[in-house]
Amino acid sequence: MSTPLDVIVVGGGIAGMAYATQLADQAGKRPVRIRMLSKAAVQVSNSYQAQGGVAAVIRREDSFADHMSDTLAVGGGRNDAEVVKLVVQEGPAIIRGLIGLGAHFDKEPDGALELAREGGHSTARVVHHRDRTGVEIVRVLEQRVKATAAISVVPVQRAIDLITEGEGTGRRCIGVRAVDLRTGDITEFFAHAVVLATGGAGQLYEHTTNPPGATGDGIAMGIRAGARTRDLAFVQFHPTALFSGKRGTANLISEAVRGAGARLLGADKQPLMAGVHPMGDLAPRHVVARAIHRAMVRAGVDHVWLDAGPIGIQRFTHAFPGIAEQCRDAGLLPGRDLLPVMPAAHYMCGGLLTDDRGRTSIQGLYALGECAGSGLHGADRLASNSLLEALAIPKRAAEATWETPCEQVVPAPRTIPHHRLAKRPVENVGRAMTALTHAMTMHVGIIRHTKGLESALRVINCIERQVEPIWKRRRWTPGLMDLRDLLVVARSVTEAAMREPVSVGAHYLENPEPASADITRG
Ligand code: SIN
Repeated sequence: MSTPLDVIVVGGGIAGMAYATQLADQAGKRPVRIRMLSKAAVQVSNSYQAQGGVAAVIRREDSFADHMSDTLAVGGGRNDAEVVKLVVQEGPAIIRGLIGLGAHFDKEPDGALELAREGGHSTARVVHHRDRTGVEIVRVLEQRVKATAAISVVPVQRAIDLITEGEGTGRRCIGVRAVDLRTGDITEFFAHAVVLATGGAGQLYEHTTNPPGATGDGIAMGIRAGARTRDLAFVQFHPTALFSGKRGTANLISEAVRGAGARLLGADKQPLMAGVHPMGDLAPRHVVARAIHRAMVRAGVDHVWLDAGPIGIQRFTHAFPGIAEQCRDAGLLPGRDLLPVMPAAHYMCGGLLTDDRGRTSIQGLYALGECAGSGLHGADRLASNSLLEALAIPKRAAEATWETPCEQVVPAPRTIPHHRLAKRPVENVGRAMTALTHAMTMHVGIIRHTKGLESALRVINCIERQVEPIWKRRRWTPGLMDLRDLLVVARSVTEAAMREPVSVGAHYLENPEPASADITRG
């Protein structure tokens, strides 16, 4: 009997599940053992909450060339054109595969798939399940995961570091160190290959559409281990999060709502996007988010309005039941009431540099989904291309994983006993998090200035100096683990933004000036 291929997947969202099931399906002569470490239930993942859908070329009038050119246009040409081609061409097969697994997507009366229109798309191209596409895809993938004996889910494990051996180009990832969030035990899990599918880092900002778990864990672990990154300067802000007056996670109002006819209005209730861009309300997200940001600053207000009147109450409630419910909880009836909306951090267009098979610059380490910088998105992401990527690259990554040398049996997990999570919040962590998110929002957000980027880096330097000794005392809390990772991502995003002298996509620099020479080190 040959040694099983041992693989650890960190993250239990769509990319992680798609990869794990593909790898198990491809098992031939050699057995495989896949452990999926997840820190929280899939129901609180970004994947699950995805409203929009999967962009794919479905209609005869559409073409791969058009989907590719929309992707490249929104990405400011900073995309990897080969990856764009490969992922776009996978679209129809991905949809067929999901339907084959039992996924239901909305249909026209004639039985054809109903396609939604979103920002930056030259045509309606988004396959969806009302406004709960993430829920539907997670449902079918989760069933597959549960039915696959080779996959075991190890819950409430907060991965904190990668375990590597070797140096330079010979560096190899051989495992993951993780904290059990119930007991505080630290376990070292070993494997022939490690796959990061941990999502993004929206919690870097005061307002985000991402769930609380979007703390950049995988990107930070990869950077600490020496993995290369790409496109981290490009943080996409979604134009329409529901304004609640509170900081943190905000409810998303899908762009498909504008695709169905809703219009953005300024504080003066006049059309906000008129004359700003030929695509109007459905211009690329960075264009719309920036126009809203400017309108809010000009009027001194903290939100603008979304008028869903053209959709009507009934149609809205039918097409967007989840959003209608969130609005109802806020005392709003879409179609009757104007909805207060603001931009919020939504998606990291870059991440750990990977090739078109998910391989990072460290041997044995893969990155998939939002934590990866595959080159698909470039300087801004075309709406609904992310679920497409999260479903297209895993198959290729699984094929690549079978090439991993795996003659040696990996050591059993090693638990470091007697470590206990700090019971109470560690001093200053909450305040440091507030300072960090404020600096990122003010200076590394929708509109950036050279001096502002320098200020953000000063704040990051200062917080790093405070956090280091606390971390070394090993009085860890989930908040401290999150802050440690967010700091790494904050530094990388800010430094990447400082290396971009010209505005492109989601990176918009006003009054470019040369950066001071002494600021980049702590
Ligand atoms: C949305 O529905 O507006 C979000 C979808 C996406 O970010 O791709």
